[in-house]
Amino acid sequence: MTTLQPLLQQRYGNSQSLPDVFQHADLSDFDNAVLTTLLSHASLRHFSDRTVSAEVLSVLIAAAQSASTSSNLQAWSVIAVQDPTHKAQLSQLAANQAFIREAPLFLIWTIDLHRPTEVIELAQPDGAVEQALGLESVDSLLIGTIDAALAAQNLTIAAHSLGLGSVYVGAIRNNLEEIINLLKLPKGVIPVFGLAVGYPQDHLQKSIKPRLPQRVILHHEVYQTDNDLDETALGHYEAILNQFQIQAGQAQDRWRDKVWQRLNALHGRERLAATFNQQGLNIFSEKKDK
Ligand SMILES: Cc1cc2nc3c(=O)[nH]c(=O)nc-3n(C[C@H](O)[C@H](O)[C@H](O)COP(=O)(O)O)c2cc1C
Repeated sequence: MTTLQPLLQQRYGNSQSLPDVFQHADLSDFDNAVLTTLLSHASLRHFSDRTVSAEVLSVLIAAAQSASTSSNLQAWSVIAVQDPTHKAQLSQLAANQAFIREAPLFLIWTIDLHRPTEVIELAQPDGAVEQALGLESVDSLLIGTIDAALAAQNLTIAAHSLGLGSVYVGAIRNNLEEIINLLKLPKGVIPVFGLAVGYPQDHLQKSIKPRLPQRVILHHEVYQTDNDLDETALGHYEAILNQFQIQAGQAQDRWRDKVWQRLNALHGRERLAATFNQQGLNIFSEKKDK
């Protein structure tokens, strides 16, 4: 038995749900620390009071900066919040989630088009910045968001490898204007998600949340709608998730209801386009994308 076998079983719920290729494959070839760290991921929402040292933070940021970045623009920044009062204010703005107050470190990941603007101003002091910068392009939003997500995920994995845990926080987008003001973000800097980071409480058992079967996620050559989730496959995944919820002591709800609720609840996100415009990323105005 390799380290990967039980992790794969937990990731897909049980041995019957494993992709066919894993049923009889020799997994020992894949048994390494990186894959073990990746496959054992689980969000952490209960933190001990152990602080994150300056050295650990710095190593984590180096890991984040090691991620690929579109055209080496490095169009992201991260704000490290450790002050309890500051964290409490952010928690209140992000659905009042207690783990934001509990975690010793709360990171706010931002798209940063402020820095490229400054760089262009240095390169083109005659005011070319207006024409040169894609501040009105949807692609700038994608570049910054993808850069920030890749960097954050690198940090997440690095943190996990050092015995820390984390949980992403999309709920910062419930009250983005207030968060922008609180963090004194200049124009061109837009928060996209938070990440609470810290050490787990000793007694905590890690629960690996099962994912959908690979055949509905992985399409070969072209998108295969034949593999769409049907009632049987959906029911099967929900039964697996239900088992996980029982083991993890979580409320049992149907995945289909959660999907419906999540995609129908706005939570202030209807204001995002206006906030993006206000922060200088003027892509939702009458003007067409350039
Ligand atoms: C961008 C993003 C935003 C998220 N926002 C929240 C959040 O606000 N609160 C929360 O408890 N979990 C949040 N999560 C964590 C997801 O709920 C979690 O990753 C998912 O349920 C899968 O569970 P796992 O990470 O334990 O495997 C977020 C995850 C992502 C990627």
